[in-house]
This record gives sequence, structure tokens and C-alpha cells, in this order.
Amino acid sequence: MQQRNGLNLELRRTQDFEGIRRLALESGLEDGSFASIVAALGLYSGKDLVGCAALKQTDRSFSVEWLAVSEPLRKRGLGGRLIAEIELEARLRGADRLWALARAPGFFQRLGFRLAGESEGSGPTLDNCMKCPQYMRSCRPAIVVKAL
Ligand SMILES: CC(C)(COP(=O)(O)OP(=O)(O)OC[C@H]1O[C@@H](n2cnc3c(N)ncnc32)[C@H](O)[C@@H]1OP(=O)(O)O)[C@@H](O)C(=O)NCCC(=O)NCCS
Repeated sequence: MQQRNGLNLELRRTQDFEGIRRLALESGLEDGSFASIVAALGLYSGKDLVGCAALKQTDRSFSVEWLAVSEPLRKRGLGGRLIAEIELEARLRGADRLWALARAPGFFQRLGFRLAGESEGSGPTLDNCMKCPQYMRSCRPAIVVKAL
């Protein structure tokens, strides 16, 4: 994957959950668990992890987790690329829709997701968000969903 500025990036599957956790926390995400993660993707610049996303599956419900792009590399389409790969992975596993508990709902809406009601379907809930000190202060999350 060649960027316009000559940066060479490789998107590949990874098991480096500690690296993902580090990038996610640096990017302002809350810590969480890797339980039920069925695929994780890393975007690498050489050995450096500069982007990540993971697919969680619980029963027949699929969601995007651990999405982050290193700050200097944002707004170049990398987040969109990660989501496209996660969508592909979810489809291969039989998903007909993909959920996210979105910190940046506008980002997801640009990629074809729509805002979902909390009682809709089997997606994520805001239960944990409501216990978080960032809730409605530095973070205004929303549940979003996309038909695949
Ligand atoms: C959200 C994040 C992954 C986006 O990564 P990115 O590489 O900058 O995204 P892209 O460049 O692919 O952006 C795709 C589109 O979404 C838009 N977009 C990006 N971030 C956005 C945001 N926070 N709010 C609204 N729109 C956004 C872009 O402008 C672009 O639109 P365009 O195609 O019309 O230009 C990145 O900002 C990030 O890591 N943020 C901190 C961690 C985080 O919030 N993760 C999401 C958890 S749910």
C-alpha cells in the first residue's frame, strides 16, 4: 500500500494485542478486552503499528472494535481502509450487518453506517460508556450499524 507521500504501509492480520492496546490508548480509547475478537488487523510502517481495527463476534452479531490510526497519519483514508477490510472479514464469516459503538459517529456515517437505536437488534450497548468519566464530556458515543 503506497501512500502519496511515499510512506510504505502494509495492512496485515496481527495477533499483537498489546500493540493494539497501546495505540488505542494513545488515541484516547478506553481500555477493554480482547475476548470474542475473531480477527485483528494492523497497519504497519516497517515494524511500527500505525493503525489497527478488530472484528468481534458474539453469536451472530459482529462489531468493529479497537479502531485507531496514529495521529500524524489521520485524514488520509487509512481508517476507511481498515473498516473496508473489517467489513470484508465480517462478510466472509456470514455477517449481514456490522455494528460499532462509535466514538466518532461522523466518521462511520461517511462510510455508510447509520445511527441505530439502542434497543435495535443485537448490537453493542452504551452501558459501559455511561460509567466512563469521558461520557458526554470528551466523548459523545453513538451506536451505528451498516448493512453488508
Ligand atoms: C476515527 C479514526 C480511526 C479515523 O481515521 P482516519 O484515517 O483519519 O479516517 P479516514 O481518513 O479514512 O476518514 C474517512 C472519512 O471520515 C472522515 N472523518 C475522519 N475522522 C472523522 C471524525 N472524527 N468525525 C467525522 N468525520 C471524520 C474523513 O474526513 C473522511 O471523509 P472524506 O472521505 O469525505 O474525506 C481516527 O481519527 C482515530 O484514530 N481517532 C482516535 C480513535 C477513535 O476515535 N477511534 C474510533 C473508535 S469508535
